[in-house]
Amino acid sequence: MPPRYFSWDPDGRANLAGAPVSGLASAFGTPLYLYDEADLTERIATYVQAFGAENVALAGKAFLTGRLLQLAQEAGLGLDVVSEGELEFALRLGFPAERIIMHGLYKPLSALRTAARQGVGFVVVESPGEVAEVVDVARQEKVKVPVLLRLAPAVDVHTHPSLATGAPASQFGVPIADGQALETVRRLIAAEDAIAFKGYHMHVGSQISTLDPFVSGAAAVGDFVRTVFSETGHWPEVLDLGGGLGITSESPAPSALREAYEVALAGSLSNGPMPRLMSEPGRFIVSPPGVTIYHIVQRKTAADGRTYLIVDGGMSDGPRPALYGAKPDVAVSPRRDGEEIVDIAGMHCESGDIVRRDVTVTRAEVGDLLIVFDTGAYNHSMASHYNRVPVPPVVFVKDGVARPATRRDNLSDWLRLEVR
Ligand SMILES: Cc1ncc(COP(=O)(O)O)c(C=O)c1O
Repeated sequence: MPPRYFSWDPDGRANLAGAPVSGLASAFGTPLYLYDEADLTERIATYVQAFGAENVALAGKAFLTGRLLQLAQEAGLGLDVVSEGELEFALRLGFPAERIIMHGLYKPLSALRTAARQGVGFVVVESPGEVAEVVDVARQEKVKVPVLLRLAPAVDVHTHPSLATGAPASQFGVPIADGQALETVRRLIAAEDAIAFKGYHMHVGSQISTLDPFVSGAAAVGDFVRTVFSETGHWPEVLDLGGGLGITSESPAPSALREAYEVALAGSLSNGPMPRLMSEPGRFIVSPPGVTIYHIVQRKTAADGRTYLIVDGGMSDGPRPALYGAKPDVAVSPRRDGEEIVDIAGMHCESGDIVRRDVTVTRAEVGDLLIVFDTGAYNHSMASHYNRVPVPPVVFVKDGVARPATRRDNLSDWLRLEVR
């Protein structure tokens, strides 16, 4: 879907948030990541209305720049981080530690120490073996670290296998059915002199466009809460139910998600007060406001007769088609009369570097711009230097004013990493 404030000028040229896309492309070069800032803040507001700002932790893995952190902070959101790098980046840019939720299958001891010293909101334990590590660090640092336990809800989600993080075969979380989760809870409760065991986390997967998987996941968590209560008397203060809300036209709204969670949990949680329900949206908030702009640099005909448009970036700045088979909507600017069916290839030396196959676009010429929609999530954050192609800059646009958020990296940046 295009950003909310995307439009076509009467002369057929694309306009984003009051600024001509061609002007932005000239000013900042291409490839270029553009974000419609008002769309993004409105999407934050929709989520906040459903869950309350203090219960929304933006998934930093989807997109993480200083400007986004500033907008998130202004809206009162939290942040979910999955690595020491994301943690340090957010802290260094002044994001409040107490609003950070720290995930990760691997949390180096140095990251756990930082989390304890800085006072992060929650550390999420992902594996039984992590309990002892978190407890040791909490004791050494003399900080009662607030802990959530990530459960593996064993819910099969109909999404790309790489995005089904709550499925039975997933490496994430601690399984419930075989007793591992209960055993881990006992260890956490036994360590309550050192840590504060606050509740549970789950994340069933990503790009989910029906309520069922969220409901099944929440119901599994609710049943587990009841089991733990009857076995140990422990009642959670917090249930962090992860992210994953899709962005198709059929995807439920955040308010429907919140209601579905409450309904799914109501039966099993009748023994105590409803815990604080948290959510960790990534794609829902940052994907639709973001577009990637390329120049069309060549057109050619393949041996089988198909027409290729070649653009000046590709899988290094937009890895999702190659990684997940994503098929983003695209448009050519300026819009001319007439249409054609083309394949759009990136510039990388890799046959998998295809932006879209067999897609209908308005008649394109070399020098035109290609706009790829819905690239605000998992593109800049997953960008690489493959083929030594620079990572494009990020520019936020609002009311016709462009605000650069990151610059394009360059040869000097790479050479600085060389050890000679
Ligand atoms: C733990 C966790 N929370 C939140 C998210 C965000 O998911 P999405 O961008 O689909 O909302 C992810 C993504 O994989 C995740 O692993």
